[in-house]
Amino acid sequence: MFRPAVARQAAKAVFQSSRLAALVSTARPSLNTFVRPLSSSASRFNKDDDDIKKDPFLTATTKAPEGTLGETEGRFARTDENVKIEYPDDENMPRSPIVQGRGGMHFKRTLAQFSLENRVTLVTGGARGLGLTMSQAIVASGSDLAIVDLNKEEAEDQAKKLVEQFQKENPGLEADQMPTVTAHYADVSKPDSVNAAIAEVLEKHKKIDHLVTSAGFTENFDAISYPYDRIQKLWGVNVDGTYLFATGVAKHLMERKAPGSIVMIGSMSGAIVNVPQPQAPYNAAKAAVRHLASSLAVEWAGHDIRVNCISPGYMLTALTRKILEENPELRDKWISLIPTGKMGTPEDLMGAVTFLLSDASRYVTGADLRVDGGYTLT
Ligand SMILES: NC(=O)c1ccc[n+]([C@@H]2O[C@H](COP(=O)([O-])OP(=O)(O)OC[C@H]3O[C@@H](n4cnc5c(N)ncnc54)[C@H](O)[C@@H]3O)[C@@H](O)[C@H]2O)c1
Repeated sequence: MFRPAVARQAAKAVFQSSRLAALVSTARPSLNTFVRPLSSSASRFNKDDDDIKKDPFLTATTKAPEGTLGETEGRFARTDENVKIEYPDDENMPRSPIVQGRGGMHFKRTLAQFSLENRVTLVTGGARGLGLTMSQAIVASGSDLAIVDLNKEEAEDQAKKLVEQFQKENPGLEADQMPTVTAHYADVSKPDSVNAAIAEVLEKHKKIDHLVTSAGFTENFDAISYPYDRIQKLWGVNVDGTYLFATGVAKHLMERKAPGSIVMIGSMSGAIVNVPQPQAPYNAAKAAVRHLASSLAVEWAGHDIRVNCISPGYMLTALTRKILEENPELRDKWISLIPTGKMGTPEDLMGAVTFLLSDASRYVTGADLRVDGGYTLT
């Protein structure tokens, strides 16, 4: 039952503290006679400070004031705005090597479902890094290939090297058994450029069955000082570029009434926040890519077009090698956070991309395949 005397007593105590005045306006009459003592959360830091400081377990809890443990508090779980990573401009980007000794015609028995024979695959960002190595896996698995990249010269050079490597690993093949590998220019963030590239690929290859979107980049600025035009560019390439190529290729597949499979390269950064380097817009972009894959998977399921995402962890590409050479302390910090204790290499994506493009995964759509040494599990 509501008791006016108790309420008056409580109201008096409450008004003594302006901080708690808001409580009064929301206080409801209690139906029983028990009244909880009024307290403020601030008092937990004052009254037992000394006792708390003496207890090593309590100093690590929310009972202890911030800073009690000094610099170690949250150190490995926070971004650090002092971490500055300089990315080289395009002319100074390191070239990626071609993988040696991983191709060949079925020296070991494998499931035929993994074969990409008689398919045409378009890979954006295929001139370098992860895109290049995945392109090599796609060619080794039997597909023809169209590399689409901002850097056409490098794409052409790598296309030639991919065919040479294939020939070396498959001696004695007739000319008509050799893969067709072409190189094309596109800025993936620009709709006209994307449409022109898709048209050019169709002219050369007559069809497209698969798409891998690997064109993308990272940058590190703290969120407050990130130049807005750089954010727009980053989202333009990573998100719009993925969207534009996916819709362009899906439209072609629908017109052909052909099944297809699309793999979007996201990142573990779409699921976790990397430390210590700040990169909020990149993380948001990769979360967008992951959910775009799920959304389009549902939208296009009725057209027999599968859409999946691969989310790599830290992979040692020519670019990440250069960054780590210039920031050696980053390497140890990153590795200490990976359960397997190792960074990946681009080769670690060869099986993942082949699986998701091929019929081996024909009931898999909208999935996010994390290839990250367990990073996102902890
Ligand atoms: N390397 C890693 O550790 C890592 C980890 C997770 C995710 N990723 C993602 O994987 C993808 C590939 O990264 P990478 O490490 O191979 O990078 P990379 O820089 O080695 O290769 C990226 C390629 O994309 C091309 N490209 C960039 N902007 C383009 C544009 N506007 N239009 C067309 N092509 C463009 C570049 O010319 C280059 O050939 C990116 O989406 C990246 O975010 C990389």
